[in-house]
Amino acid sequence: MKDGKKKLTNNAGAPVSENQNVMTAGHRGPQLLQDVWYLEKMAHFDREVIPERRMHAKGSGAYGTFTVTNDITQYTRASIFSEVGKKTELFARFSTVAGERGAADAERDIRGFALKFYTDEGNWDLVGNNTPVFFLRDPLKFPDLNHVVHRDPRTNLRSPASNWDFWTSLPEALHQVTITMSDRGIPFSFRHMNGYGSHTYSFINADNERVWCKFHFKTEQGIKCLTDAEAEAVIGKCRESNQRDLYYSIEDGKFPRWTLSVQIMTEEQAANHPYNPFDLTKVWYKNDYPLIEVGVLELNKNPENYFAEVEQSAFNPANVVPGIGFSPDKMLQGRLFSYGDAQRYRLGVNHHLIPVNKARCPFHSYHRDGQMRVDGNYGSTIGYEPNSYGEWQEQPDYSEPPLELSGAAAHWDAREDDSDYYTQPGKLFNLMSKEQQKALFGNTARAMGDAPEMVKIRHIGNCLKADPAYGEGVAKALGIDLRNVTK
Ligand code: HEM
Repeated sequence: MKDGKKKLTNNAGAPVSENQNVMTAGHRGPQLLQDVWYLEKMAHFDREVIPERRMHAKGSGAYGTFTVTNDITQYTRASIFSEVGKKTELFARFSTVAGERGAADAERDIRGFALKFYTDEGNWDLVGNNTPVFFLRDPLKFPDLNHVVHRDPRTNLRSPASNWDFWTSLPEALHQVTITMSDRGIPFSFRHMNGYGSHTYSFINADNERVWCKFHFKTEQGIKCLTDAEAEAVIGKCRESNQRDLYYSIEDGKFPRWTLSVQIMTEEQAANHPYNPFDLTKVWYKNDYPLIEVGVLELNKNPENYFAEVEQSAFNPANVVPGIGFSPDKMLQGRLFSYGDAQRYRLGVNHHLIPVNKARCPFHSYHRDGQMRVDGNYGSTIGYEPNSYGEWQEQPDYSEPPLELSGAAAHWDAREDDSDYYTQPGKLFNLMSKEQQKALFGNTARAMGDAPEMVKIRHIGNCLKADPAYGEGVAKALGIDLRNVTK
C-alpha cells in the first residue's frame, strides 16, 4: 500500500502491472495464454454467480438486537430469554417468495421474515413469514407449491392458471389465500408488516417441562400496505422499493422495531384441543391463548457487503437452542431436512463458517474437511468418540423430556383427521370491514386473471363454504353467475 491507497495485486499477492490491455503478439494479436492476470480475472468472473435460493430469492438483510422486556423463564430455559434486559445480537432477512433474485419487491406475495439470533448457547434461527398460517399442512406438497408460483415450463411466464388450479384444489390453502389476496397482501415495506414463527414450536423450562408455543412479532411502525394500483406505480419507478426503504431507514437512524409475544399451550390443552394444534393452516385463537409479551427486536445496522452477508446468509429451522424445540407439525418436520440440504448445495458443506452464519459462542462440532474449510479444521485434535481423552463428549443435561407418540405408521391423510378448512377463513373474512372485503374481491379477481373458468368456479365454491358473502363477492368480481357454482 502506497499513499494509503491499495494497489492492485493478483490473488497470490503479486503486483498487477497491466489491467487495460490483454497481452498479444503484436498490435493485432493473437492473445497469449501467458497473460495470467487475464486468466485469473476471467476465471473468477465466470464463477461469480452462485445458485439463488429456490424460493425467497429476493431479499434484504440487516443486523439488530433483541432485548428481553418480560420474564418467561417459567416456560423456557433458553438463554436468550434468561433475564429481563438481556440483549442478544441478530441478523434478519426479509424476502418475497416467488420472485427471482432480480424480481420487483412490491409484489402481491407472502414476505419471508427470517431471524438468526446469535445466542450464547448457539444460533437460534426462526425462519418465519409475515403471515401466521401457510398454504399447506403436508411438506410433500411443497415442491408442487413452488412449481405453481414460479414460471410455466413452456412459456416461462407466471401462470395464474396453474397457480389457482393448485391452490383451489387444496381447500386447506383458503386461509392463506385469503390473507394473500386481502388488503394486507402487498406490504408497503418490510418495516410495516408483522412477523410470525407460524409453526407450533416447543419451550422447555429448567425443570425439563414442555409447553407448546407460537411466536408473534408485531411491527411498531404500524401496518401499512399498497393497493394493486399503488404497487404498480411503485414498481414502475423502483423495483427495489423494500430494499431501499429498509436500507435508508437504518442509515438515517430510524431503526425499525417489533414487539415479540408468544402464545403458550400446555401439553394437556393440546391433547384435548378441538382441532390439530400442529396444523400450519390454522391459528390458535388469541382469546384462548393470549399473547404474552417477551421483548423487543430492533434493526440498527446495515450489512457492509450484500453478497457476503445477505446472499450468503443461511437460515435453518433446524437451528434451535436449549429451551426451544420442535413440534409434531409435519411442515416443520419437513423443513428440518430441506434448508440445510439446500444450503449445502447453494453455499457448500461449510456454510456455517461464513461469518454471517457463524455462531458467536464457542462451538466444537467435530465435522472436518469439506470444500471451503478455511479455519484451522480442529488442527491435530483427534476425530473420534468414544476416546480416552474426554474429547467431544455429548451433553446429556440438554436432552429434552420424552415426547409421547403413538399410532401406526402409514401415509395418513390429514383430511380424514380434520376437514374443516373453512371456519378460520370465514372468521377472518368477517373481521374485515366492508372496504377490506371489497379489496379482497377485487384483488382475487385480478390475481386469477386468465385462469380457466372451472378453476374460478372451484374457488368461488370454497369461498362460499367459508362465508356466503365471501363467495358471492368473489363471483361478482369475476363476473361469474353463482348458479354455475356447485356448492
Ligand atoms: C427459504 C424450503 C415452508 C419461510 C426456503 C428455502 C428452502 C425452503 C429450500 C431456501 C433455503 C436456502 O437456500 O437458504 C421449505 C420447505 C417448506 C417450507 C420444504 C415446507 C415443507 C416454509 C414456511 C415458512 C418458510 C412454512 C414460514 C413460516 C422461509 C423463508 C425463507 C425460506 C423466510 C428465506 C430464508 C432466507 O431469508 O434466507 N424454504 N420451506 N418456508 N423459507 Fe421455506
